[in-house]
Amino acid sequence: MKILAIETSCDETSASVYDVRKGLLSNVVASQIDIHKKTGGVVPEVASRAHVEQILPVIDEALVLAKTSLDKIDQIAVTHAPGLIGSLLVGVNTAKTLSAVLDKPLLPINHLEGHIYANFIRECQMSNVKCQNLGVASRQIFKFPAVVLLVSGGHTSLILMKGHGKYKYLGETLDDAAGEAFDKVAKILGLEYPGGPNVSRFAEEYRKKNKDCHIATLSHCRGGQSVKNSNEAMKQCNNDLRFPRSMLDSGDFNFSFSGLKTAVLYAWQKEKKQNRAAKEMFAYEFEEAVVDILATKTIKAAEKYKAKTVSICGGVAANKRLREEISFRVKRELKNIPFCVPPIQYCGDNAAMIACLASYKVKGSKVIKLGNLDFEVLSNKVL
Ligand code: KG4
Ligand code: ZN
Repeated sequence: MKILAIETSCDETSASVYDVRKGLLSNVVASQIDIHKKTGGVVPEVASRAHVEQILPVIDEALVLAKTSLDKIDQIAVTHAPGLIGSLLVGVNTAKTLSAVLDKPLLPINHLEGHIYANFIRECQMSNVKCQNLGVASRQIFKFPAVVLLVSGGHTSLILMKGHGKYKYLGETLDDAAGEAFDKVAKILGLEYPGGPNVSRFAEEYRKKNKDCHIATLSHCRGGQSVKNSNEAMKQCNNDLRFPRSMLDSGDFNFSFSGLKTAVLYAWQKEKKQNRAAKEMFAYEFEEAVVDILATKTIKAAEKYKAKTVSICGGVAANKRLREEISFRVKRELKNIPFCVPPIQYCGDNAAMIACLASYKVKGSKVIKLGNLDFEVLSNKVL
């Protein structure tokens, strides 16, 4: 049984073909980065126009790569929420049209749930998708209950996943999402769109050049013995820059990143040398603060709910430091339970994760027939 999935919730036009038995056959992602670079962020109207131009060629390419054709597709799946309305409408209207014309069943999919299922993608058994040796795949070690940290441009949520399709929200951001904070800090520092990966690149430069500072900061954040307080950490860093870890001890699992963003802004305005080295230092201190907050709360949630797996997903899960830090703390503090994170190419928006989720929903070989096609697109929808 083959599924064609379509994803257009924000600024990536993507289509994927997934064989329920064999796994992923193709995943094509047309990024709009070059378009949005000019404005330093996504302009919704511009994004939806770009989706209109890309959607048919992207679907065609996904079918060709999967060595199949529309008549051999058994189920269509499409992201219908949450996201930018104009962007979602392009994917949903395309999917509805294909469904009606070809008489194929159509399944609406929640984008956030899709991000979680990036963990379960079964990679390319027989396709010409570029395969990588990924070691043990998340889906082989993922056990329930799992604590999942979903971190993207629009969401930062801690979710308790008790089984497939069973979710309980433990906490979420009260203001900015983690990815949004990365993007806004990139703007403050004058770094190009997309902000997240660029902030991370600058932070890595600082880390490489200031190993002692990094070791001291880590030791402090992880409660190590050698450097017991932030003052000592700061001495090693040759700078007095240290950003707040908001809500770290709030006693709940919510987050707040707008104070951190404002702290970066005020410190940057006071910074006399706004040069490359200063940008690297700010990017580093900001990234360490975000990673510390996300890792600390995720581990606390996993402890409280006796999780058997910790997982992260969403665009920010591509962040190397976040992956490294949560992996370290899971090993140290949670008796080495599995830590699952999708391969980097499935962290950002893609249709493979939508198709994979659809493959779990169809359960075996039965297609899901909706009575009609009048489901809506929604900008805001939780799991
Ligand atoms: O999941 P996603 O592709 O789109 C949404 O559903 O929002 O996430 C995009 C977000 C952006 O804010 C982007 O800056 C951030 O993920 N991001 C990163 C990294 N790669 C993407 N943030 C930090 N470090 C990265 N390496
Ligand atoms: Zn997303």
